[in-house]
This record gives sequence, structure tokens and C-alpha cells, in this order.
Amino acid sequence: MFDVWRVREDFPMIKKSMNGKPLIYLDTASTAQKPKSVIDTVRHFYEEEYSTVHRAVYELAAHSTEMYSGVRSKVQRFINAREEEEIVFTRGTTESINLVAYSYGRTFLKEGDEIIITEMEHHSNIVPWQLLAEEKGIILKYIPMSLDGELRIDVFKELLSERTKFVSVGHISNATGTINPIKEIIELSHGVGAKVLIDGAQAASHIKLDMEELDADFYAFSGHKMYGPTGVGILYGKLPLLEAMPPFMGGGDMIETVTMEKSTFQSSPIKFEAGTPSIGSVLGLGAAIDYVESIGRDAIDTWQRGLINYAMENLRDISGLKIIGSTKERGPIISFTLEDVHSLDLGTLLGLKGIALRTGHLCAYPAMCRFGLSSLARISFGVYNTIEEIDATIHAIKEGAILLKPINAT
Ligand SMILES: Cc1ncc(COP(=O)(O)O)c(C=O)c1O
Repeated sequence: MFDVWRVREDFPMIKKSMNGKPLIYLDTASTAQKPKSVIDTVRHFYEEEYSTVHRAVYELAAHSTEMYSGVRSKVQRFINAREEEEIVFTRGTTESINLVAYSYGRTFLKEGDEIIITEMEHHSNIVPWQLLAEEKGIILKYIPMSLDGELRIDVFKELLSERTKFVSVGHISNATGTINPIKEIIELSHGVGAKVLIDGAQAASHIKLDMEELDADFYAFSGHKMYGPTGVGILYGKLPLLEAMPPFMGGGDMIETVTMEKSTFQSSPIKFEAGTPSIGSVLGLGAAIDYVESIGRDAIDTWQRGLINYAMENLRDISGLKIIGSTKERGPIISFTLEDVHSLDLGTLLGLKGIALRTGHLCAYPAMCRFGLSSLARISFGVYNTIEEIDATIHAIKEGAILLKPINAT
């Protein structure tokens, strides 16, 4: 039985204050707070077991290597990938997407090919493709979204052709919370022979992922958004694709042989993990997976859905407040504007009351433009948020609506 008050005991930061007020943390979509088990795992590694991985034969290094590889198998099970070698550790979703754009894109895509992304992507899933398109003469197309925040699948079908070689789409939008129909997008893309990457940064902590069933060619996500440390991300890739791709970076560990003339490389995933990895963060990621599984992704999802429904209902009652994107299938994210009040002013006022929420363009500038906005406010939930916190936030927004309105607007 899910008990949020018990769960809150696991998160030291949740008991902190900000500006002298109890912290209400509503910015999990940016980064999640960490349970004590994750913090303890990282601390224990540095205090008791610290050494490098792969390179040495002494006992400590062998132990670190074993623990590091153990997390790879844990991730494999967590997302139901076929092989452990399909799991590449990166620094985050951003690096995972750049790895694919750089390595797969520069090797297998050529001038005149088309890549399709969407209007609602985070900049991490736009800029790497723009850089690739510019360099190689590739055409970049965007699936538009409706003002409800839903992708226009009808237009996507028209954009698809035998020229489409790659499709890259977010699982859940960090701007509107929309859960995209990725299964359908993958099937349609495969229908024309295109490869597909799913940006799962906002999905991995609460949607059960099954790579075998989903059939995505690549899936990218970040440890820090799923209660793990910063500095570690995951790239899942189908093994034949990873094996065919050249390294993304060169350096230690990823080589098989090096002479002054030439180097040869290890196979996946080590081929893509040049240099000393973020060992402590990877171990922390393992603890985060254990934590999420100990509560259960279904239980997390159910709790967060309850929070979302309650918040949506109550936010709609605030005069002048407009929720951006009204899709039913949504992750634990709500973005909104407040008439005559700039979101940065609202964010500052709420911050003074101990409420942490995100404001600005949310690294999704094209999505902002679609809604005719340059800035909005976003609240996002984690496993530790409560109905009481939503009530306090609604109260503070109502106060803000009165206090921050220009005199001539009232
Ligand atoms: C949808 C989405 N994609 C990618 C990213 C980038 O993740 P990271 O900064 O961990 O690389 C984010 C971060 O907010 C995101 O929300």
C-alpha cells in the first residue's frame, strides 16, 4: 500500500526549507530529489570501496568493475532489453541523443535524407539533429502539434516517405506533459524503413519500459530524473545497430589495440564509453532503480496521476489561469500562464514562499512559439508530493494573481 508520508521520510531534501518556509518541491521534471539509499550508496562507494573500473587487477578494482557491470544488467532488466550489451552509459539524455546523431547519423545518413522530429521536443532532441542536418545536407522535418498539445499523427503520416531515414520523438513532453503514442510512431516509421529514437527523459521513472515490446531502435534517458545522481544517463540501442556504429569519442578503455598508425575498438557498449566513467553515479543509478522498483512503477504512476487530476481541477478554478496543453494522456507535468502576470514574477513570488517550480521557456522554445508564448510556469510531481502541497501552491498562485497584477489590469 503506497504511503506518501512514509516515502517522504526517504528523501532528506524534502524536509528542508527555502527562504525560511518548508520546501515544496515541484520541479521533478527538471531533476528529481534523491532518496537516502541513493545518497548512501554513492557515499559508501567513495568512503569504503573507491577505485577505478576495468583497468587494474587488484581486488578493489575488480570489485568496482563487478558492481559497475552489475548496474548494466540491472538497467537491462529494468527496461527489458534483450542483451546487456545494448545498454550504454552516458552522462545523460543529452549525451545519449548526441551519441546517436554523431555516430549513427554521420555514418548512415546522407545528403537528401530526411529526419523527422516534433515541434514539442526539448532542445536536446532538436539541436543535435540540426547540427547533423546542416553538416550533411539532410532535411529536418517537424511533426506539428495541435493547441491541445497533441502530435498531429495525420500530418506525420503525410511527412513519412522512403526518404525518411530517422525519426526522433519524446516519450513525454517536458513542456505540456503530453504522453505521445510512441508505439504507433515506431510502427509507422518502421513501415518506411526509418530508424527511431525515443527521448525517454520524462518517462523512465514511472512508465514501465519494455524494449522488446516497444521495438524502438534507440531509447535515451537520464539517471537524475529518476531519483539517481547527475552525471549518468543511458542509451539503449539494438545490438546490431550499436555494433555497426563507429565510436563517438576516442580514449582509454574503448580500444582493443592502439599503435602509432591505427587503433581498433572494443565491441558495444565499451566502444562508446571512452575514459574513466562516472562510477559513483552509475552505482547510484543502480540504487535508484532498486528504489523505484521497491515502490513499483505502477504505484508511482497511480499516485502521480491522482496528484495531476487534483491539481488540474483546482488550477482550472483560478481566474485568468490557462493550462497549456489539455491532453488526457499526460505525465506528471502541468504548464500554465496567468493572465497579466509574467511567469518569472510568479516563480519568484512562489519561491519566496518555499515553492520551487520551473519558469521560462523550459528548453522547448519551438513548443513555446507554437503556443505564442515566450515563458510559462511549470509544476511537476515526484513520488514525494502531496495533496496538501498542491493546496498550498494553489493558494499561493491565487495570492500571486492578486499581488502581481498591474494596477491598470484590475
Ligand atoms: C524531454 C527531455 N529530453 C531531454 C532532456 C535533457 O536531459 P539531460 O539534461 O539530463 O541530458 C530533458 C531535460 O529536462 C527533457 O525533459
